[in-house]
Amino acid sequence: MSGLDRARLETLAAELLEKQFQRVPKLRELHRGEWIDRDWYVRHITETVLRIRLNNEVDSYALYKVGSQDDALAAKLAKYLAEEFGHENMFVRDLEKLGLSFEALNATPIFPSTAKLMGYLRLEADRSGPAPTTIWDWFVEWYSDRYNPIITEKAATEFGKEYVHGTRAHLAFDESHDHDELMFRTVSRAVEKFSSPEQAETYLTVFIDLIGDYFNELYQATVGARDAGAAAPAGAAAVGV
Ligand SMILES: [Fe+2]
Ligand SMILES: [Fe+2]
Repeated sequence: MSGLDRARLETLAAELLEKQFQRVPKLRELHRGEWIDRDWYVRHITETVLRIRLNNEVDSYALYKVGSQDDALAAKLAKYLAEEFGHENMFVRDLEKLGLSFEALNATPIFPSTAKLMGYLRLEADRSGPAPTTIWDWFVEWYSDRYNPIITEKAATEFGKEYVHGTRAHLAFDESHDHDELMFRTVSRAVEKFSSPEQAETYLTVFIDLIGDYFNELYQATVGARDAGAAAPAGAAAVGV
């Protein structure tokens, strides 16, 4: 038996996120529905699309690593993948409405933290099979259930509900397909067969550190850069300081 304890994993996820709330500017306010910024939001949804594409590749690779070793796990992961492919298009519609073209979206480089996270998942799939990827997927679904409605409603209030149609549709999909539940059953099975509860907690710690790095990069690239530009003396921008 894996002995993977859902309440314990959820408590750990909340504790680790709390550390990031202390570390990253505005992160606590964002997750309480007390803060949002348009540049920040556009870049966040952009990265969401770019990360979903890479995440689907990583999940496909994890499925390949299951191979014929555990058919029930392979079926669960394949079902999840089938339901996730193409989801980024819901966010693409919102981005177009927010003024970002499909071409501009595709030309946006991912943040280093996203590259590190996706690279780490591929490396760990190579070394240890599908468990780390499923732990990440479960965390994404748990996080989304808990926080994305708050962030989305704040965006609807501040920018207008016409800008969050796709995001709301995505939340409704996850809700009706019970993705949090599906992923916990998947991660339990993956940990039982390919890993251990202790190792699962180590992976979760790395993932949430990298998510903190992402939110920090996102803040610095949008609000931070804008504030620095406004505060810089004349001529400073020209020499790149
Ligand atoms: Fe999705
Ligand atoms: Fe989902």
